Amino acid sequence: MKIGLIGGSGLYEIEGLEITKEVSISTPYGDPSSVYKIGTICDKEIVFLPRHGIPHSIPPHKINYRANIWGFKSLGVDRILSVSAVGGINKDMPPGSIVLLDQIIDMTIGARISTFHDEDKVVHIDFTNPYCPEMRDLIIKASHNIGVPINKAGTYICTNGPRLETAKEIKFFSMIGADVVGMTAMPEASLARELEICISGISVVTNYAAGISERKLTTTEVVETMKNSIDRIKSLIKEVISQTPDSRSCPCKDALKDAEL
Ligand code: HPA
Repeated sequence: MKIGLIGGSGLYEIEGLEITKEVSISTPYGDPSSVYKIGTICDKEIVFLPRHGIPHSIPPHKINYRANIWGFKSLGVDRILSVSAVGGINKDMPPGSIVLLDQIIDMTIGARISTFHDEDKVVHIDFTNPYCPEMRDLIIKASHNIGVPINKAGTYICTNGPRLETAKEIKFFSMIGADVVGMTAMPEASLARELEICISGISVVTNYAAGISERKLTTTEVVETMKNSIDRIKSLIKEVISQTPDSRSCPCKDALKDAEL
C-alpha cells in the first residue's frame, strides 16, 4: 500500500516526510510536474508530487494531469490525497475553511485531455461519486480525532483558468450548486478513477470568489491564507495517513469492471 500526496499552491513539501528517494519518471504521456519524493510518514510509504512544480511554475491549464497520475500508478500508489486552494462561493465556507470535496462540476471539458483512452479502446468509468467514499470517511474521522474542523462535503467547480472568474460566472456557479471554485480538480480525479486509484480532495478556501468579496482578488491573498492554514492541513494529512488501512474496501479499485465496451 502506498499513498500519493498531491500538493497544490502553498503545499510544496511535508515536514515529517522522511524522504528516502527522489524519482524522475517519463511516461507515455510526457513528463510529470516534478520528481516524485518517496518516503515514510508514520511507517507508511508516501509518494509526494507538487502539481505546479518547484518552484511553482506550471499554471493549471498546462499541468500534464495524465503524466502525473500515470507516474503515481507506475510507483504502485493506490490512494491519492489531493490538496488544492479554492475560492469560496458558499458563504458558509469563508476563507480559511477546509472543505472535504464530494462532488465536481467540470467546466474544462474540451479544453484539457481528459482520458487515457483516446485511441486504444472505449472506456466509460462510473463517476457518480468522483471521490473515494472510504477515504472521505477516513478524513472525517481524522478531523474529529485531532480537532481540526472541516466542511464534510462540498461541490468543486473546475474552471480552465488561468484567469479568475467574472462575478456573473460565480453567480451562475452558485445557482447550479457549486460551493467552491478552483482550476485543478479535473481531469485529475477522473484520470485516477480510470487507473483504479482512490482519490480524495481536500481544499482550502483561500479567498471569496469573484463578486462575493468586494475586493480585487489577488494571488497575495491566496498565498497568505494558504500559509495560515497549512499547519492544520499538514496535521490532518498525517492523521489520515496514520489511520489508513492497508487494504481497500471501496468501489474505486474495481472501476474498470463493466466500464469497457
Ligand atoms: N478561483 C479559481 N481558482 C482559485 C480561486 C478562485 O477564486 N482561489 C484559489 N484558486
